[in-house]
Amino acid sequence: MVSQKVAVITGGTRGIGLGIARKMAEEDCALAIMSRSSEENVRNNLNEIKSFGIPLLYYSGSLADSNCRRTFCDKIMNRFGRIDFLVNNAGVAPKERKDLLEMTEESYNYVIGINLNGTFFLTQKVANIMIREVKENPKIKPKIINISSINSCTISVNRGEYCISKAGISMITQLFAVRLAQWGINVYEIRPGIIQTDMTSVVKDKYNRLIKEGVNPICRWGYPEDIGKAVSVICSGSLDFSTGEVINVDGGFHLRRL
Ligand SMILES: NC(=O)c1ccc[n+]([C@@H]2O[C@H](COP(=O)([O-])OP(=O)(O)OC[C@H]3O[C@@H](n4cnc5c(N)ncnc54)[C@H](OP(=O)(O)O)[C@@H]3O)[C@@H](O)[C@H]2O)c1
Repeated sequence: MVSQKVAVITGGTRGIGLGIARKMAEEDCALAIMSRSSEENVRNNLNEIKSFGIPLLYYSGSLADSNCRRTFCDKIMNRFGRIDFLVNNAGVAPKERKDLLEMTEESYNYVIGINLNGTFFLTQKVANIMIREVKENPKIKPKIINISSINSCTISVNRGEYCISKAGISMITQLFAVRLAQWGINVYEIRPGIIQTDMTSVVKDKYNRLIKEGVNPICRWGYPEDIGKAVSVICSGSLDFSTGEVINVDGGFHLRRL
């Protein structure tokens, strides 16, 4: 078993997930990262994380696939023997933004299959591992962190499937928070606003304009490191009497104004 705490980060190869991986590596966690890309295609970013001197396991597979989720967990337990933090970050936007009245079942199943179903069943699997760990060592305090979106409660009718998946993440957070509290396993939702990544690069001009017009009281883009810092606060144990909590990292976007 590794001596360091182990953080599992889905989609830790770029964007927000990479920001989280960098921060957790800086804090000397061993990392297990999963994404669909081949190891060769993400080697540069993995090497950058490894340069912090931490053990790193990379697994190429889809969160939507139950065999991949099982293999990923088996590999983590074989290599590291423990899981302290699960960060459910991987997610996709619809391949094409389409109005609610035109959205296809294929797109709905694609987005829900990864963002919601994949996240739920990976969480279920890891939660059972964490329960076993706590039973063996009641002193440890594993944590689960779900990366949702302002779209879990902000409506965008041209990507309804994404909004539904993120609203579901909010309920997954609350369900597991209640179910796992008896073992001291806390569950949190981080709700990012507009963050500069590949996902938002296709609508960069629109978001540049909205930000300039004041859509966020804090008038700038969010960056992956903003989310990394929030994850780090949770993992530090500073919020240990809170569970099921939503942490908005959105420059104040969620505040209603008149
Ligand atoms: N950017 C924003 O403004 C924003 C705002 C709110 C919430 N979020 C949420 O934050 C999370 C990260 O977003 P991002 O902006 O960093 O997106 P991104 O730049 O597109 O990165 C997504 C990551 O998830 C991985 N991934 C996608 N599908 C996967 C699958 N089926 N199995 C395993 N890994 C998969 C990707 O790797 P591969 O492509 O190699 O699989 C990549 O590492 C998502 O859940 C997103 O919904 C983003």
